[in-house]
Amino acid sequence: MAVIRLHLPPDRSYDIVCGRGILGQIGGRLSATGGRRAVVIADAAVSATHGRRVAESLADSGIQVLPVEIPAGEGSKSVAEAGRVWGLLADQAVDRNTHVVAVGGGVVGDLAGFVAATFARGIPVWQVPTTLVAQVDSAIGGKTGINLPAGKNLVGAFWQPSGVFADIDALATLPHREYVSGLAEVVKYGMIFDPDFFAWLEANAADLVARSPDQLMHAVERSAALKAAVVERDEREITGARAALNYGHTFAHAFETAAGYGRLLHGEAVAIGMSCAARLAADMGRLAADIPARQDALVARLGLPVSLAGVGPLDADELLAIMARDKKSLDRRLRFVLPSRIGAVALVGDVDEARVRRVLAG
Ligand code: GLY
Repeated sequence: MAVIRLHLPPDRSYDIVCGRGILGQIGGRLSATGGRRAVVIADAAVSATHGRRVAESLADSGIQVLPVEIPAGEGSKSVAEAGRVWGLLADQAVDRNTHVVAVGGGVVGDLAGFVAATFARGIPVWQVPTTLVAQVDSAIGGKTGINLPAGKNLVGAFWQPSGVFADIDALATLPHREYVSGLAEVVKYGMIFDPDFFAWLEANAADLVARSPDQLMHAVERSAALKAAVVERDEREITGARAALNYGHTFAHAFETAAGYGRLLHGEAVAIGMSCAARLAADMGRLAADIPARQDALVARLGLPVSLAGVGPLDADELLAIMARDKKSLDRRLRFVLPSRIGAVALVGDVDEARVRRVLAG
């Protein structure tokens, strides 16, 4: 087991616990902070398994538990679902001494975190991510939110959890495609922050695909530590440090939108997006010419796509229009997080559209 401390001012600092079979420890940790009631919010895919395990641990520690199940899928990140959960909390006279415990993937974490951030002007939330992408990214760092018809994550709040429990054993039952998709975010950490970790991923790719527990534990622990370090430096994405996490994501969001949500998993879109970003950086002379192929080779060995070949042609004009609207573009000029070597990236503004077209054309 590893415990990573995310250091922020005392009221927002917390531990990220990574390990095997650790869901039973949550009750002890939560009761040590004075929690006596907990609302366990889990999606339908995990509420009878991991959700129940968490609820049992809380009950064993003398904590009164209110279980709340939400439908699985992105549709739950909605005003309607947030409203339903707010209503349930109000019916149960939930107050600031009640803790929310989010069990599941990014959707549950974002929705439960947002409900916790806003109910009674903020109640504590604990994140128990059970997907790889949530364990290495979305459960850490306090971003919460819901979608509007006009766009994803348009309403939200920064609300740091009281603690994160990443149980590696929970990943054993993930569908293969969803598991592999999470590995894209793991590769991202190597590319943006840590050349040694990138080399370790190259050496251990086959074991990671096979979900070997030791390799998986190291990948999750190292990714969580890298995420924690950048959140410490730039909690609210103000200085630009946290923006490094968006490597590959400007392309990825455009691919997801143009292909239609659901056709590409987020991690698959990020994998193709990182390939485009690396080639763009090389085209601009910012990155050694051999690095895009090295990154592609690792991504492909992990079973992820490096091109849009499997998706079919997407219209370059549409992709460029979406990218210009991206949160990271400035005055509709194209901005990208681009690598300068393995382990370092920079936010690059005013990128020439012709270069982006070249990269999109392959
Ligand atoms: N997933 C990006 C961030 O947490 O900033």
